[in-house]
Amino acid sequence: MNKQITVIVGAQWGDEGKGKLTDFLAQNMDYVVRFHGGNNAGHTVVVGDKVYKLHLLPSGVVSPHVTSIIGNGVVVDPKVLLEELNNFIVDNPKPKLLVSQRAHVIMPYHIAMDEALSGHQGSLGAGSTKRGIAPVYADKAYRHGIRIGDLLEPEILKEKLDKAYKFNVDMLQKVFDFEFSTPKEDIYAEYLEYGKKLKEYIYDTELELAMAYKFGQNILFEGAQGMSLDPDHGMYPHTTSSNNVAGYCEVGAGVGLNCEKRILGIVKAYVSRVGNSPFTTELLDETGDFIREKGFEYGTTTGRPRRIGWLDLVQVRQTVRTSGLTEMAVTKLDVLAGMEEIKVCVAYSIDGKMVTEMPASLEAMRKAKPVYTSFPGWEDFSPEEKERIKKEGFKSLPETMQKYLKFLEEQAGCKVSIASFGPDRSETIFA
Ligand code: GDP
Ligand code: IMO
Ligand code: MG
Repeated sequence: MNKQITVIVGAQWGDEGKGKLTDFLAQNMDYVVRFHGGNNAGHTVVVGDKVYKLHLLPSGVVSPHVTSIIGNGVVVDPKVLLEELNNFIVDNPKPKLLVSQRAHVIMPYHIAMDEALSGHQGSLGAGSTKRGIAPVYADKAYRHGIRIGDLLEPEILKEKLDKAYKFNVDMLQKVFDFEFSTPKEDIYAEYLEYGKKLKEYIYDTELELAMAYKFGQNILFEGAQGMSLDPDHGMYPHTTSSNNVAGYCEVGAGVGLNCEKRILGIVKAYVSRVGNSPFTTELLDETGDFIREKGFEYGTTTGRPRRIGWLDLVQVRQTVRTSGLTEMAVTKLDVLAGMEEIKVCVAYSIDGKMVTEMPASLEAMRKAKPVYTSFPGWEDFSPEEKERIKKEGFKSLPETMQKYLKFLEEQAGCKVSIASFGPDRSETIFA
């Protein structure tokens, strides 16, 4: 249990409660590190009457003793980061935040390109958050991306922007017939200014983490998105553009971790999905509406209503395997309270065949039908019951819930070590 390194990943399609669990475990951490994604993420942390909705700031910022790091694998929209920081520091002056010099910068033409691409991709699109994520990672791969450190070097920024601006604006106008009128000179001046404002946070975070690791500090890597959005292992092309399997933490933070890690997959007791893709267990009926309203399933980033479905163990099995989970936290158990029957998908039926592991084929996924096992539900916890459960732990959970959790463990091949039954930091227990 007492491992120096913890990695938190989403086991489904994002919004499983990674922010909540990061904050919960951050109480014993020295560092919290985001290692991929950008402000497509929306992580919520609730502590008493305070609610923090974080997009780029690691959830560690809520805990003053933690140093929060935005790693090299993250893509940073500096305007969004500054807005988030400015709002945060009103009540929390001097956050311990470091931003990697090597993190790539989301530029205005990336956001325009995301809009143009979304129109172009049609039925193969993912339903992007349109924050510029795919285009900025594409520019990184093309090798004309702009990095946070470049914002501090006026001549380098000019040289790089010349190339990147021409490439992107030509593509927008000539390929997509998409209007983009912001002059290069305006972008240059604006981004130099962002560099000045962010200078105090920009740092050699890879070296900082290497030292922290060497001297035994506790480090938590806070994943964004979820398994099925991973561009290699998820439901490609309906994915995001950065890897979110746990193994990517070393790439996206620039630190080699030659040790056993605690790898915690966050599993919501049902599934939500913002965006487009096949969704085998989707509930398009009043049960889906009930869960959406009770679980307040509306996007933290875009406000879009989230699609809802029953828990899918084919999906969770793939996360256990590809991220090497050592344990799982099951969240939002309270949301299912009051339901007579709770279903769990144990396999897909595809062309009459039972499939228990995630197919790579898009055709197969379009045809997949869920095979369910049903469980009796549990009742809402009264305030007194909640307090008792917090004190007495797993053994005091309703028997039906314990059976359900045991079944998840057996089917996924991974233990459930944490149960979450409310948004607040305190509504969490260890097994
Ligand atoms: P993330 O993207 O994985 O960090 O998840 P989000 O923050 O986008 O969405 C999870 C939502 O569920 C947030 O509003 C959390 O405050 C809330 N939440 C987390 N755990 C629980 C839980 O166990 N019960 C309830 N009712 N809400 C929870
Ligand atoms: P957190 O970290 C849920 C989804 C989008 C879309 C696809 C691609 O809060 O769990 P992108 O903007 O990345 O090009 O969109 O990925 N998506 C998320 N869905 N939670 C997220 O993050 C997401 N980040 C991206 O809805 O389907
Ligand atoms: Mg979210």
